[in-house]
Amino acid sequence: MSAPNKSYDPVEVEALKPEEIARMRDEALAAIAAAGDLQALHEVKVAQTGGTSPLALANREIGALPPQAKAEAGKRVGQARGQVSQALKKRQEELEAERDARVLVEEAVDVTLPYDRARAGARHPLTTLSERIEDIFVAMGYEVAEGPEVESEWLNFDALNLSPDHPARTTHDTFFVENAATGTEQSGVVLRTHTSPVQIRTMLDREPPLYVVCPGRVYRTDELDATHTPVFSQVELLAIDEGLTMADLKGTLDHMVRALFGEGMQTRLRPNYFPFTEPSAEMDMVCYVCRGASVGDPERPCRTCSSEGWIELGGCGMVNPRVLVSCGVDPEKYSGFAFGFGIERMLMFRHNVEDMRDMVEGDVRFTRPFGMEI
Ligand code: PHE
Repeated sequence: MSAPNKSYDPVEVEALKPEEIARMRDEALAAIAAAGDLQALHEVKVAQTGGTSPLALANREIGALPPQAKAEAGKRVGQARGQVSQALKKRQEELEAERDARVLVEEAVDVTLPYDRARAGARHPLTTLSERIEDIFVAMGYEVAEGPEVESEWLNFDALNLSPDHPARTTHDTFFVENAATGTEQSGVVLRTHTSPVQIRTMLDREPPLYVVCPGRVYRTDELDATHTPVFSQVELLAIDEGLTMADLKGTLDHMVRALFGEGMQTRLRPNYFPFTEPSAEMDMVCYVCRGASVGDPERPCRTCSSEGWIELGGCGMVNPRVLVSCGVDPEKYSGFAFGFGIERMLMFRHNVEDMRDMVEGDVRFTRPFGMEI
């Protein structure tokens, strides 16, 4: 026989006794207070509020109580759970604030420290400057033309009205390529002394109108010193069309120096002689530093132009009809202009490079400050 029925006293359900609930709550609160970091707090949260936590289990017991006891037990458990979740929330905020403060200190970056980054390389300033000049002409509709550095003597000299006995040949101190069979210099092959043979090749290859810019390395038998190098770079230009005059040449030169050195720049032509042009001229540009202001003013000397007001750029002129004829171009119909200058010299005065040897030695400490302009 079963025991007599007896009214159900909530106090007698072990888990719902007030002291028991208070103990569970205090235990939870103590665990929360003891959680030293967010991970520990998360574990406490699972243990103290999860489905198998003491208070959750106690809450489940309420269902078994008689109706009259449910309200009071529910209130007691509910209050305890409320206190626990509030304490959890507060501790969570505290720990987050602590973490944020710590991260701010630990992960602070001292932007004033020198950085240790892999250095980007640098392009050689001769290449960059040469390409800049080419771009100026490409923008005007010119094409870039290139040719071999080992060149036939005929293209380098004869076709340019420089026959073997022409006195001007001696101004080009030439490297002759040895004739392997005879061991003499009579091979008919030279290291080109200028990029003008590229212009000859263009005229031989194609019909005018022709507008070409010819950059490249050239060779002359100079000793390497601060102002000479046996290997240097040129940019030469050739325009062949109907009705071209010296005014077109002058306008083209003025445009080039403005594009390279800024507005207000201009060039001047001084009579000169080249076998391949007639008339021929030396071309100068206004000193882009003092703009002529240093001339005759000892108070304001200019290092760039030695107080002359002008900087010598190179040679130019109207293509000699004899050159047109040797390239099969009809001088009655076409005329043309050409000019040429050295890039090393321009780099020297444009960037204050004082020693040409720096340009040929290939030391990255020289090229690096010029950067990666492409
Ligand atoms: N080819 C000449 C040189 O290298 C430069 C030049 C080109 C002069 C075109 C006049 C016309 O010396």
